[in-house]
Amino acid sequence: MCKPMASGQLSRAEALACSGCRHACHVMLYCDTNTLLFGSIPIRHIVLMQMRFDGLLGFPGGFVNLSEESLEAGLGRELLEELGVAFQILEEDHVDSCFAPASSPASSTSPRLITHFYTKKMEEGQIRAVETAAVTTATDHGQEVLGMVRVPLHSTKGGGGLASFLSHSFVGNARFQLLHTLLRLHLVAPEELREALARSLKIQA
Ligand code: GTP
Ligand code: MN
Ligand code: MN
Ligand code: MN
Ligand code: MN
Ligand code: MN
Repeated sequence: MCKPMASGQLSRAEALACSGCRHACHVMLYCDTNTLLFGSIPIRHIVLMQMRFDGLLGFPGGFVNLSEESLEAGLGRELLEELGVAFQILEEDHVDSCFAPASSPASSTSPRLITHFYTKKMEEGQIRAVETAAVTTATDHGQEVLGMVRVPLHSTKGGGGLASFLSHSFVGNARFQLLHTLLRLHLVAPEELREALARSLKIQA
C-alpha cells in the first residue's frame, strides 16, 4: 500500500529485522452502516480518520518502541492514548509495512521510519463508542489529536464529498493508504473513486 511505483514496501519480517529503524503503526477503523445522510444519501460505511495537532489528516496510531512492545501492543497503547478505548489489534489485521517517504533533506541523517498499516472492521456501535471516548476519556484529545473525523465516502451533485476530503493535506502516505484501502475493501466503487480523485486534484490546483 506504499506509494505506487515506490520500492518502499517491506515484508513484516524484513521490517521487524530493521532494528535501526523507527517504527510507527496506524489503523483504519471502519464499519458498515444503514444510516442515510440527510435521510437520503446511503453512506454505507463509516471510516475514521483524525485531525492531527499539525493540521494534517491521518489515521490513529503512532510510534512503537520495539524494544519494549510488539507492533500490535504499541498500536493498542497509541489507540488508548488517542481514542480512549482499549483495543486488541491482531497480527492478522496488519496490511503492509513500508518506508515512509523522506519528508525533508534533514531527515536523511535520522533513522528511517517504517510505517505499518492495519485495518479493523467493527460494529457501528463500537465505532460510535470510539467517537465518544475520543473526546471524553482520551488523554491526547486537544493535544496530539484535535478530533476524529468520518471520511465522506459519497459524492454530492456539486462535486463535493469525497473529492473535497481528498483535496486536504495528509500526513506521510495516509492519503494513499486511504485510497488504496477504500478500493481494496470495496468501500467505494472504483469509478467513483477515480472521479473523486480527479476532482480533488482540480480542487488542489
Ligand atoms: P508522538 O507521541 O507525539 O510522537 O506521536 P505519535 O506517537 O502518535 O506518532 P504519529 O501518529 O505522529 O506517527 C508517527 C509518524 O508516522 C508521523 O510523524 C508521520 O510521519 C507518520 N504518520 C502519522 N500518521 C500516519 C498515517 O496515518 N499514515 C502514515 N503512513 N504515516 C503516518
Ligand atoms: Mn445545518
Ligand atoms: Mn500518539
Ligand atoms: Mn498518533
Ligand atoms: Mn506516541
Ligand atoms: Mn504521544
